[in-house]
Amino acid sequence: MGKKSQKKEKRREAIRQELERYGSEILNSEEMKQAFQQRHHTLSTVGAHTMRVAATSLAICYALKKLHIKTDIPSVVKGSLCHDLGILGRGEKFHSSKECSARHPIDSVEIAQKLTGELSDKTADIIERHMWPVGKAKPPNSLEAAIVSTADKIAAVEDFVEGYEQQRPGIKGVVREIKKRKKENTAWKTKKKS
Ligand SMILES: [Fe+2]
Ligand SMILES: [Fe+2]
Repeated sequence: MGKKSQKKEKRREAIRQELERYGSEILNSEEMKQAFQQRHHTLSTVGAHTMRVAATSLAICYALKKLHIKTDIPSVVKGSLCHDLGILGRGEKFHSSKECSARHPIDSVEIAQKLTGELSDKTADIIERHMWPVGKAKPPNSLEAAIVSTADKIAAVEDFVEGYEQQRPGIKGVVREIKKRKKENTAWKTKKKS
C-alpha cells in the first residue's frame, strides 16, 4: 500500500472509530435503518447522505486540528448523524418540499433527543441550523455548526454526482469499468490455470 493510501486508510479508520464511540446509539437505531430505505437527493438515500456528512464533518475537524484549532468531536458526530433524520416519512408528514426544508431540522432535533437521551444545546443548534443558507434557516452559531452545515452542502453535491455517474458513467465511470473488467479477466485467467 502506498503512503497516500495508507494515510487515507488511517483516516477512514479514525472516522469509523469516532462514529462508533460517540454515535453508536444513533447508528444502531431503527431510524438509521429506515434512513437507508428513503431516497434523498434524487439518487441517494438519507442514510448514505448522512454517513457522507458525518465523514466529511470529521475530515474537516481533522484538517482544523492540524491548524491547532480544536473542535468538539462528540457534538459533531451526534449532530451530523441526526441532522436529517427528521426527513423520514417526508411524504406523509410534509405537504411540500418547502415545508420539508423548513420543518425537518426541528423534527431531527426531537429524534436526536429521543435517541441520545440528553442533547446538549450545541448539538441541538448544529441540527437545527444545518440547512443554512437555504430558506429562512438561522446561521450556524458555533464552529461545529458551521462544519456540519458546510459538510452537508459538500455531501449533497457528491450525492448528485455519484448518482448521475452511476446512470451516465462519463469518462471516469468508463475507466473504472475497464479496470474492473481487466481485474475480473485476470482473476478468471488465474483461476483457469490453477
Ligand atoms: Fe437537511
Ligand atoms: Fe443533509
